[in-house]
Amino acid sequence: MPFLTQVPAWQALASHRDALSHVSIRALFARDPERAAKFSHEAAGLFVDYSKNLIDEGTIASLIALAREAGVGARRDAMFSGERINRTENRAVLHVALRDRSGQPRIVDGVDVAQQVAAVRARMRSFCDAVRGGAWRGHTGREITDVVNIGIGGSDLGPKMVCEALKPYAHARLSMHFVSNVDGADIAEVLKRLNPETTLFIVSSKTFTTRETLTNARAARAWLLASGEPEAAVAKHFVAVSTNAGAVAQFGIDTANMFAFWDWVGGRYSLWSAIGLPIAVQIGMDAFESLLDGAHAMDRHFAEAPLDSNLPVLLAMIGIWHQNFLGATSQLIAPYNHALHRLPAYLQQLDMESNGKSVTLDGERVDYATGPVIWGEPGTNGQHAFFQLLHQGTALIPADFILIMRPHHALDAHHDILVANCFAQTEALMNGSRSTDEPHRNFEGNRPTNTICLDVLDPVSLGALIALYEHKVFVQGVVWGINSFDQWGVELGKKLAVAIEQELAAPGPVESHDGSTNQLINRFKARRRAVA
Ligand code: F6P
Repeated sequence: MPFLTQVPAWQALASHRDALSHVSIRALFARDPERAAKFSHEAAGLFVDYSKNLIDEGTIASLIALAREAGVGARRDAMFSGERINRTENRAVLHVALRDRSGQPRIVDGVDVAQQVAAVRARMRSFCDAVRGGAWRGHTGREITDVVNIGIGGSDLGPKMVCEALKPYAHARLSMHFVSNVDGADIAEVLKRLNPETTLFIVSSKTFTTRETLTNARAARAWLLASGEPEAAVAKHFVAVSTNAGAVAQFGIDTANMFAFWDWVGGRYSLWSAIGLPIAVQIGMDAFESLLDGAHAMDRHFAEAPLDSNLPVLLAMIGIWHQNFLGATSQLIAPYNHALHRLPAYLQQLDMESNGKSVTLDGERVDYATGPVIWGEPGTNGQHAFFQLLHQGTALIPADFILIMRPHHALDAHHDILVANCFAQTEALMNGSRSTDEPHRNFEGNRPTNTICLDVLDPVSLGALIALYEHKVFVQGVVWGINSFDQWGVELGKKLAVAIEQELAAPGPVESHDGSTNQLINRFKARRRAVA
């Protein structure tokens, strides 16, 4: 059995939870006028107020003790130094090297990865400058107007989220599109609106074996050629981002048009690498580098700040408090900013693919909860949909509210309404409101929230925000003793899908599965042609 639940800090937290069971967050505020300042912290341009959680100084002290007992500091240093901490894949985990702005060499297995990163980034710069400046043209000599990223998971969610968030910085001539789903409706809808002469495809896949991405990339190439363009046009309309040059060449993209990255970049941690190419094309390479600057500032904070004033550590440990001691099973992400509408989806992969694990690094089954379900929608939309359950439901759902001080638009009245709602929600969730004669109007309160404030949603602060969550997820994985950097759980379904695909193509009914799966496959085979 893993010993996490036996360590003194874990035991102390269990007793502490019992001691706090009759205390409300509201009462903790009444007791201590300094509470808000005490449980807030600023780093890398982000201000985080975590005072609206059921915590006191004792809670934080025990949580930090638990982080220490779990070896968070040593694991963090091991990650930064390029140790192969991703044991099941025998890989280093070095997304921090992609945004290391120190200019220092970083030798891993005898190779200076800092130099490799700089070389690819220089190629990204000339490519972005050429596309944005109009020097890179389509086969018929016209400027590029539309860029389509074809990728899925980490090769889609990060670039898409950032491109949405940083639209105010976008190049006026270029429209970005993202195709991920193997459902043909996805690519069909996008292509319908585009002109092959002015469209550039970025095929993004770490492995370049992902079924969805290759299927979509083939469809895109067929669409280009069907428009009458010759095979030679592919070189002007397709580039690739991958670690697998052989597969890129086999697909028919000249490796001169390929941007490399490395196995030490996990898919869900890859937007800082050439996978960020759509971002760099949209906002320009200087702004892309600002995104890296912001992430690097958070990296320095994470690497250097003491654990008890270290934002990723604090958010991680408060999450562990909710998940392992207060019985939460999910975590809401509520950006009060429409441009961040893809952030919950992005964080879903980051967190759930990283910490959705139930065996430890030593291969033992855990006897405690690990990663929460991550979900969310931007405010104020969520308020008119699922916030009812947050306020009066039976589940405890910790929530992160993310707020921008100064918007890019000039509609100040809108912004004040948005901000007022954000503050009102966290206040209402915490304080509740009592109604003795009408139980349906009773709000128990005591629902925990963090509020994360950015001055402006610019590349620097967005970089810091993303890195904050990356490191939070890392710290939680260390405490739970799991490998946050593999994703074996996605393999079984992929394997079965390949077999079923063949069965769908073969004639006759299928009998090799369970009754339900056989029934569904056979119904599909019978009905697909019958339905007009
Ligand atoms: O199937 C899961 C996964 O491997 C993710 O971890 C990854 O981000 C995604 O698929 C896409 O993989 P690739 O970039 O290799 O196409």
